[in-house]
This record gives sequence, structure tokens and C-alpha cells, in this order.
Amino acid sequence: MRLETFTGAPEQVETPLMVVLVPSELDFKELAGLSRGVGGVLSRAVSSGDFQGRERDRFLGYRRGSRGPERVMFAGVGPLDGLTGEKVRAAAGRAVRSAEASRLESLALCLSQLGSEVDPRWFQAAAEGLVLASWRFDELRSAPAAGTESEDWPPRVESAVVVAKPSQGLDRAVEVGQAFAAGENRARTLQARPGNVATPTQLAAEAVGIADDAGLRIEVLGPAEMEAEGMGALLSVAQGSDEEPRLIVLRHDGGDPATAPLVLVGKGLTFDAGGISIKPAKGMEDMKYDMSGGAAVLGAMLAIGRLGIPANVIGVVPSSENLLNGSATKPGDVVFSRAGKSIEVINTDAEGRLILADALDYAAEWNPAAIVDCATLTGACVIALGHHRSAVLGSDEDLVAEVQSAGDRAGQPCWPLPLDEEYRKQLKSDVADLKNVGGRPAGTITAACFLSEFVGGVPWAHLDIAGTAYGKTKKSYLRDGPNGTPCRLLLEWVRARAGF
Ligand code: BES
Ligand code: MN
Ligand code: ZN
Repeated sequence: MRLETFTGAPEQVETPLMVVLVPSELDFKELAGLSRGVGGVLSRAVSSGDFQGRERDRFLGYRRGSRGPERVMFAGVGPLDGLTGEKVRAAAGRAVRSAEASRLESLALCLSQLGSEVDPRWFQAAAEGLVLASWRFDELRSAPAAGTESEDWPPRVESAVVVAKPSQGLDRAVEVGQAFAAGENRARTLQARPGNVATPTQLAAEAVGIADDAGLRIEVLGPAEMEAEGMGALLSVAQGSDEEPRLIVLRHDGGDPATAPLVLVGKGLTFDAGGISIKPAKGMEDMKYDMSGGAAVLGAMLAIGRLGIPANVIGVVPSSENLLNGSATKPGDVVFSRAGKSIEVINTDAEGRLILADALDYAAEWNPAAIVDCATLTGACVIALGHHRSAVLGSDEDLVAEVQSAGDRAGQPCWPLPLDEEYRKQLKSDVADLKNVGGRPAGTITAACFLSEFVGGVPWAHLDIAGTAYGKTKKSYLRDGPNGTPCRLLLEWVRARAGF
């Protein structure tokens, strides 16, 4: 979606649809120009009680003259003191849905009425809501014949204007929001692609494209390089499939060369059948989303490069399939990780932690300032936190708190789970240094305990996104299916670290 900003009178914007965000502190003087343009009906809507600026209150008028917005939609956002970025994001999403319902390709979103102290975050959130809402995935569908309409092909809203009073930071905030959302949309597209399209090789090819688009350095390790690195854990997952694994490394050198990098690691399991410990058939198709963490990291790197964030950031995506052929790893097999720790593979379906182990160990060697990883790692996380919050766990309390507040700013909230030493005992193996599962109790925690064995002393936080990266949604700016979580969270975190 193309975005522009405009800081003049909203009634002068030539647009098929102007959506005006109106707080419950209605300011009639401010709204007079817009209301007049559509016949002064606002005061009647208000006096009748139909419109009071409550969240989701809506009221549509059509222009009387021949200039200015053809339609004006007054859209309530509730009281100003309760207004949040997420509410603005949601209102922007509803604005795009309104444009779609009227089969319009462009709209304007007016934030001029949000009082005298507009938080620049609201501008960013508005841009995010618009751009995220405009995303859809139709690259694998035949287009309907020209001139016919199809429910599968809603109109695509191509462009929007963000209207606000002249204010510092408007253009910058909109630019940041657009870049964040475009990165996240790229992540969603990668997620949406099925396993036969988004193989590890394909994901690496996409990463090359992203590096090109964003001015990043890229390095891709294949099986030979992994062998040379001793990445036996990652290779033990890949050996059950005919598709070769890849380890993608994207580098953004935006900071002082002397400062330690931030590392983002994402699980890029392009299809998880469970291996020999095969999953039940029901819902297995959703395991194409097991690369959601990797997608979020690639999307975040795209935005980081494009914005030129002043920090050194490295994105790492270990990518493999988890299938079951005659050479697949079997339950009970012992494999050797790059870190030198032997792992008894009790359950081949606990493969995410295996590919992440080698990736984390590889990254820890760079002595980064911090590592944040994200992975659709455990079904247990879906039971613990459902679909509204990711889990965050880590070795460093301050880092966990940083990640949590980045999630709040991004509208991708997470919640901490403990990582006490006692849980680690569940990973004791009779034959190897550790085993890859710790039983049913506290499955999300023991998975994180396993990962923690491979980060050395680097401050590290882990996001379990099994319940949040995809699924049905009630959020106006998303659609059912892949949603890019936690791409925006990662970006907010990096941005805060960079002081940007
Ligand atoms: N990719 C799955 C986790 C998952 C489950 C993601 C549901 C999204 C929705 C992961 O590889 C897995 O299979 N984990 C196992 C671990 C178990 C064998 C210890 C699980 O959670 O059942
Ligand atoms: Mn699995
Ligand atoms: Zn998995």
C-alpha cells in the first residue's frame, strides 16, 4: 500500500472516502468543516444519540458539493485518555475494511481530531493498521475473469492518505509504521506459502531477495557447511527429508562497527510432520506455519535495512523440513550438537529446539549484546496462554522486561514464564548430555530450558509463538491465517535498543 501524509484541512482532500477518527470528547468546532461538506448531518447523528464517538460508533455521509471527500465516515475511538496505539491500529483497519466494502481503491484517514496532544505513536499505529489491513494472499489462486466479481478477490486498497494537523514527527512516524507493516506483510506472505512452495531452499532464495531490497549482507549455509560447522542437531532433523536444510544469516551493519550486534533468531521449519514421532493428520496442514518465527525475523530484517536503523543487527533463520524417510532420526537416537553437547532424541517432533540449538550456539559465538529468538515451539504454550499472548522466557530479567514492553507497544503482547533451575532436571538423559523433551508438565518451560543450554552467557530471551503466529482473528487489521507475529515486537525492541 502506498501512503502519503497531508497536513491541511481534511475537507479539502480529494478522496472517495475520508475516515475521521473522533474521540468521545466531540469537538463540534473542529468537525464543522467536514460535517458541512456532507450536509451538516453530524449534529443530527449526535443529537439522536446514534453517534457519540464511542469506540466503533460509525456514521457515513455523502458530499453535497463537487469538491472534497466523496464520503465522510466519522469513526469513534472512545475517550482520549484511554486511546492507545492498538485502538488506532484497529480503527485504521476498520477504515480499510469500509473502503473494501465500498469497493474503493484508496481512502484517507484523518487524525486531526484527536486533541491537542497527539502521540506520534498514534501516527505510526495508523500507518501500520492501514498497511496491515491491505495485505492479502492470492498468489496461488486464479484471478476471476475480467469484469466479474468474486468473494475470493475483495478489492485491494492500494493507497491511503494520513491526514493530521501539522505536527512534528508525522512523516517520520508514518514512514516507520509503513516499513514495520510492510516487513510484517512480507512475513505473512512467507508464512502463507505452503510447504511445497516455501521449502528451506526457497526461503533462502527469498532471503536473498530481501537482502537485495533492504541492503543487507547475506550468507546461506547448506548441508556441507553445516557438516563442517558440526551442526549435528540441525542436520539430524533435516536428514528425514529430501529437501536440503539452510541456515540463513542476514546482516545489517547500521551501527558503530565496534558495538556488539543484536541477534534475532527465528525457527524456519517449513513443514513439521513430526518426523518418525508423526503428528495426527487433523490440522497437520497448519504445520506449514512452523516457519513463522523465521518469517518474522526475515520481515524484521527487511524493515531494519530499509529504515537504516542505527544498530548492528543479525537475523538468523535455521530452516528445515521435519519429515520421515528411511534415513530419518529415530526416537532414542543420540545426535551431537555444534556446542559439543550430545542430545538423546526422545521425540522427533521436538525438532524446533534441535535446529535452534545449533543456530543459537552459532550466534552466541559472535558475542552479541543480546539474542532474541522466536519459534512456534510448543503446543503447551497454546494451552498455557491461548492465542492472545506469546510466552517470553529468558536468562536476563531486564531483557525479558524489554521484550515484554516492546510487545505492548507493538500490539503483540507476551507474558513471562519462569525458567527456574528445577525444570532443567526434566531434561536429564540416561545416555546423553540431555534429552530433547522433558515430559508433559511445563512443556513450554522445559523447551526454553533446552534452548538456554546453547546460548552461553549471552543475554537471551525466547518467544514461544505457537499460539499467536497464525489462526482466526477478530482484529480488523488482520485476516484469518498468518499474521506475522512477532515481527513488530522485534522491530520495537531493536528500535528501542538503537535509541531510534
Ligand atoms: N511445531 C510444533 C509446536 C506447535 C504445536 C506449534 C502446535 C503450533 C501449534 C513443535 O515442533 C512440536 O511438535 N512440539 C511438540 C513438542 C513435544 C513433542 C515435546 C509439542 O508441543 O507437542
Ligand atoms: Mn514438532
Ligand atoms: Zn515444530
